[in-house]
Amino acid sequence: MPETPVLDIAHLTKRFPKLVALEDVSLQIPQGEIFALLGPNGAGKTTLIGAVCGLVKKTSGTVRIFGHDLETDPLPPRYFVGLVPQEVNFDPFFTVRQVLAFQAGFFGKKADPARIEELLAALDLTSKGDTITRTLSGGMKRRLLIAKALVHRPKLVFLDEPTAGVDVELRRDLWSYVRKLKAEGTTVVLTTHYLEEAEELADRIGIIDKGRLLLVEEKSALMARLGERRLEVRFGQTQTALPAKLQEQGMVLSADQMGASFIERHGTAKAPALLGQLYAANMEIAEVSLKAAKLEDVLLRVLQNGGGAEVSA
Ligand SMILES: Nc1ncnc2c1ncn2[C@@H]1O[C@H](COP(=O)(O)OP(=O)(O)OP(=O)(O)O)[C@@H](O)[C@H]1O
Ligand SMILES: [Mg+2]
Repeated sequence: MPETPVLDIAHLTKRFPKLVALEDVSLQIPQGEIFALLGPNGAGKTTLIGAVCGLVKKTSGTVRIFGHDLETDPLPPRYFVGLVPQEVNFDPFFTVRQVLAFQAGFFGKKADPARIEELLAALDLTSKGDTITRTLSGGMKRRLLIAKALVHRPKLVFLDEPTAGVDVELRRDLWSYVRKLKAEGTTVVLTTHYLEEAEELADRIGIIDKGRLLLVEEKSALMARLGERRLEVRFGQTQTALPAKLQEQGMVLSADQMGASFIERHGTAKAPALLGQLYAANMEIAEVSLKAAKLEDVLLRVLQNGGGAEVSA
């Protein structure tokens, strides 16, 4: 990588008395990237973020933020980092605006009412600005967490499940806000169990399981390599067999002989070409569906393989 990565993690290990939460994790994230860290419950995502944000004491390894080693030079990077934690962590007795003003103060910034109002508007909280946070709904608390993490204009933002419990409409607003952050040059590390969110936003995907980083890859390359498109065809009448040429390419006649299916994988025939061959063979086609590859299926495949030979080929 030509320029210094915004985040540079090398051989990071975190051991708790009874388990290894992170095992020899190395990862570099360049400026302006949206990086999605995916993995099952307990995989180590929050621990990784905690170790980078100084909330979890690492066992070994190094973490550099903007070139500063957190061990020898912990303070400067903190001012550039924002964290949306997985758990709600603000004082319940202040108002929304107060929480945001205090947070700016923690980072040595003067109260900037315009910034606060901008964030309230972006997160649809303006009407709740003078509400005591204790009385906010769950989704509103989460939105306030996001505003709080951004109030000091961080250059590196960690979003640990930012949209858990957030309604569909606001989730989409948040996605556009994250894109805006990226356009401004902000680097974003995101964890989420909504894979649609990672599919929408991420430039690169990291998959972690049992503390081991199994894979890091450009989203589009990963989807092309491991994503499976599924072609389903229903015929107008029963078929005794498919043309041999189609069978050879992996198309399968359904048990009721009224349809056929084909799974397009990296390096196999293309689904539209097979469809063309069905038309060319004059088979009467009543219905066609082509299902796009989903990140969810890719994630499950990688987790099932444990990052082994097949998926990293
Ligand atoms: N303070 C702690 N003491 C002991 N074990 C811990 C501690 N914090 C986390 N762990 C363990 O470390 C492992 C990783 O937890 P972590 O919270 O990083 O998972 P996660 O990937 O964020 O999961 P989720 O998707 O559920 O948020 C889990 O087995 C968890 O129980
Ligand atoms: Mg977590």
